Amino acid sequence: MGKKDSVVIAVAAVLALVIVGGIGVLIADTVKKNIPEETSERGSGTLLTEAPGTSAAPVEESVTDLPFPTAPVQTREITTQEVTTEEPVTVPVTTPEPTTEEITTAAPTLPVTQPPTVPADPSTAVFVPTHVEGSTLTGRTEKGYDIEVKDGITYVAGLMIANKTYSLPSSYTAAGGKLVPEAEKAFNEMKAAAAKEGIKFRYFSGYRSYELQTSLYNRYVKNDGKAAADRYSARPGHSEHQTGLAFDITDDKYTMVEGFKNTAAGKWLAANGWKYGFILRYPENGEEITGYMFEPWHFRYIGSNAAAIYASGLTLEEFLGITSVYPD
Ligand code: DAL
Ligand code: ZN
Repeated sequence: MGKKDSVVIAVAAVLALVIVGGIGVLIADTVKKNIPEETSERGSGTLLTEAPGTSAAPVEESVTDLPFPTAPVQTREITTQEVTTEEPVTVPVTTPEPTTEEITTAAPTLPVTQPPTVPADPSTAVFVPTHVEGSTLTGRTEKGYDIEVKDGITYVAGLMIANKTYSLPSSYTAAGGKLVPEAEKAFNEMKAAAAKEGIKFRYFSGYRSYELQTSLYNRYVKNDGKAAADRYSARPGHSEHQTGLAFDITDDKYTMVEGFKNTAAGKWLAANGWKYGFILRYPENGEEITGYMFEPWHFRYIGSNAAAIYASGLTLEEFLGITSVYPD
């Protein structure tokens, strides 16, 4: 082989290498483009985000617990802006808090504490007599209210009466031997309202059976004599406590004396009891009319008509035009 042949062979070899190399690069590029770059990161890769509030330094968060993606994960940096705009996409796992507008709309459906018939100003209250179904009309009071009797119980203008003139049957047990539920509910609302003003009280005597009143009265007679006992304790069948509508109320110091009128609780009850349907039943200087000495602790549940009675400044007997005197 001559020198010329050697040169030709060398050139051919170089060309062959160049051609083979080029084809190799082309094949490598094609293969690379068809393979997803982050295939190996599926389900256990990393997601680079920026720490909120910082400008650059990326924070590496583990995405090991992320659900297995259905599309190739792109490892990239995302900006704070992207993180913020992506947040609403998150599916809420709890019921969203109601908006202010929703709360305002829902409020009127809540039960009202005060009956709508009780006016803010008691002097505007109108007394509304009611009637007892199935009762017998036996007369009218000095004020023109109907006196009705049903099952041996006297009602005046629809109000159950228990005083020295009108008695209850010995067999009568209010509400199955308890306070009348409506009265008890009103008491509890009144108590809660007072508590909000820092005034505390409770009732120490509510419903009393005929038998218990007999026992109490007899003891007082034994201790103080009949005349004295009749001034502060009702004879059996004549006590308002048997109606299940009367409450003897005391403050947290158990002040069941005339001085209760000067306590915060006594003053509050005298001034606000009407709002909850209560009247002070045996007021000061009322013994000639009510038949009993002043009892600043004894309140009677009347209902919404309490506002008109309170505003009149009269005792229940005066307001209705009835007496409270024992027949003997
Ligand atoms: N202390 C009241 C009058 C009663 O015994 O019912
Ligand atoms: Zn009482």
